[in-house]
Amino acid sequence: MAHPMFRPRRLREKPLLRKLVRETALAVDDLVHPLFAVHGRGVREPIASMPGQFHLSIDEMVKDTKDIASMGIPAVLLFGLPSDKDPRGSEAYAEDGIVQQAIRAVKDVVPDLLVITDVCLCQYTSHGHCGIVEGGTVRNDATLELLSRVAVSHAEAGADMVAPSDMMDGRVGSIREALDDSSFTDMPIMAYSAKYASSFYGPFRDAADSAPQFGDRRAYQMDPANGAEAMREIALDLDEGADIVMVKPALPYLDIISRAKAEFGVPLAAYSVSGEYAMIRAAGRLGWLDEERAMMEALTSIRRAGADVVITYFARDAARVLERGTVS
Ligand code: PBG
Repeated sequence: MAHPMFRPRRLREKPLLRKLVRETALAVDDLVHPLFAVHGRGVREPIASMPGQFHLSIDEMVKDTKDIASMGIPAVLLFGLPSDKDPRGSEAYAEDGIVQQAIRAVKDVVPDLLVITDVCLCQYTSHGHCGIVEGGTVRNDATLELLSRVAVSHAEAGADMVAPSDMMDGRVGSIREALDDSSFTDMPIMAYSAKYASSFYGPFRDAADSAPQFGDRRAYQMDPANGAEAMREIALDLDEGADIVMVKPALPYLDIISRAKAEFGVPLAAYSVSGEYAMIRAAGRLGWLDEERAMMEALTSIRRAGADVVITYFARDAARVLERGTVS
């Protein structure tokens, strides 16, 4: 045969044909922007390891959330840096804690923006672990009660969804029960179900001042080599009442995202974490790759793998590109 019968290049020749047959669309509707709240006023402090991201006092955060909502981004994911840390992470569940204040302020001024909150203790504990530490290890069951208090305090402050990221066993069930007991039966839970013990959280731990003071998180976060275990974690969280399940990080775990979508077919989020952001930003700044194209390619790949929701520090940059309609 002189010529191939099928020539895939036929559909690649013209930009409009490429557009016509494109399989995956990234949309602004899918994006969630993480933000870091700090105490004080007028604070907008750049986070060195995450260029373009800031520690924001609540007055400044309100300005950014207005901007984020005006771009059509549906949700933010809030993290807080407390004024004091203690072994039980008390500010995490304090009525006037930093995140609780931030939720109230944002919902007050920008009611149409969804406020999702990270439910964890590591930013708030003096030892930097995600639970109560006794005898050098994180106690699972004792931690559940505190996590439930965190979630209920976020609900009381007006959060739209809570997102437990601690990786304790049974925390989704425990939080669901606590929310229901406090009449928050309609409050959805987005569970960080398959959360790996990843080096890609490095820049975040600077940003959130949440590095463990001893040891690491491998006794509760997942081993990066495991895939089947991720499916079991997701199944457990769904059984316990999770409404959205999450895979985190995203880019090194696209296979896990794809398996999760195929096996469960439930709403699925992927968190493109601080290290993924920092890598693309840094290489872009050095002129080693085209940052905008790399960003769009990475975010699209996460959608292609099967994520419905993409949590990314690039949310605003991506929204600008999507608004413009073309990658430059
Ligand atoms: C808290 C938490 C972490 C991240 C989200 N929630 C850090 C960690 O587990 O060490 C990481 C987010 C990122 O890297 O962007 N447990």
